[in-house]
Amino acid sequence: MSKRILVTGSYGQIGTELVGELRRRYGGENVVATGRKKPPAILKRDGPYYQLDVLNVSQLHQLLVDLDIDIVIHNASVLSAVGEKNPQLAYRTNVEGAYNVLEAARILELDQVMIPSSIAAFGPSTPKENTPNDVIMRPTTMYGVTKVFIELLGEYYTHRFDVDFRSLRYPGIISSEALPGGGTTDYAVEIFYEALKNKRYTCFLAKDTALPMMYMPDCLKATIDLIEADASRLKHRSFNVTAMSFTPEEIANEIKKYIPEFEIEYKPDYRQQIAESWPRSIDDSVAREEWGWKPEYDLPAMVKDMLDRLSKRLGIEY
Ligand SMILES: NC(=O)c1ccc[n+]([C@@H]2O[C@H](COP(=O)([O-])OP(=O)(O)OC[C@H]3O[C@@H](n4cnc5c(N)ncnc54)[C@H](O)[C@@H]3O)[C@@H](O)[C@H]2O)c1
Repeated sequence: MSKRILVTGSYGQIGTELVGELRRRYGGENVVATGRKKPPAILKRDGPYYQLDVLNVSQLHQLLVDLDIDIVIHNASVLSAVGEKNPQLAYRTNVEGAYNVLEAARILELDQVMIPSSIAAFGPSTPKENTPNDVIMRPTTMYGVTKVFIELLGEYYTHRFDVDFRSLRYPGIISSEALPGGGTTDYAVEIFYEALKNKRYTCFLAKDTALPMMYMPDCLKATIDLIEADASRLKHRSFNVTAMSFTPEEIANEIKKYIPEFEIEYKPDYRQQIAESWPRSIDDSVAREEWGWKPEYDLPAMVKDMLDRLSKRLGIEY
């Protein structure tokens, strides 16, 4: 694929690692990282970085034209927990940001727009176990409301204006590079740092709260596989994807296999209510059928790899 890709919100948890993977595959110069702040070293290393606030329409159009961009991966977003603290900011960033990107794609005739959705697009009235791709979606968080809107708006742009919109409903993403940006599944990353540093963790969710999750290598693979998928095979535009589902107690028990002294206690806060409105497990058979999705990491493989990578980075043996 010889396309030029621009990533918004690129120093977030997913963007930081996605930009590196895209540059390895498509060449550093072909992948433009953007964000609102000064970039971390990792994003400046192998390719261009530009300052971009997705609410600034003229800045967005200027970059897309000047840099001859074909595909936008629109990762800039306010996540679930931050969104419940500041719903107005989540609305503006997520709804207006996605509208600006889709409008730019229509006006400038870009080849493709990928905007992540989330399991947060589901709500309390959605079936909780093995949630299908096409199902009732009435979320009760501002984040979830914006994600349903983004899916519907993107699909509207595909049918009405022939914009090639694609979206993945990511579950909680677990990674060792950048810290998560204020979501309800952040505990599944924090727990590793605390297990290695302090051998104890206080979890903000109750011990039996199962949620769908995915390790970063699978998140990168899903994203790239969907971008590269043949459009003629896609009957859907928004896809469930998952790799595993676990509770805080189950991940803690897996960590204890390597750090037996590790202790966990549970002090659920406002995020418990958000988690309870989401599916406990996801059916991603539509993604498997339409573009061959298949994850590689289950809970034991993810925990072992996370501990290895983080212990190296933090210089803490376990
Ligand atoms: N990480 C997860 O577990 C997860 C799960 C489901 C869906 N997602 C989705 O994946 C995408 C990427 O998520 P992430 O985890 O990297 O999020 P993150 O919070 O780590 O990063 C988002 C980035 O967007 C930036 N941003 C916010 N407002 C902006 C603006 N106006 N202009 C430009 N940048 C702006 C933030 O500064 C941040 O760097 C988002 O759409 C998110 O909703 C993530």
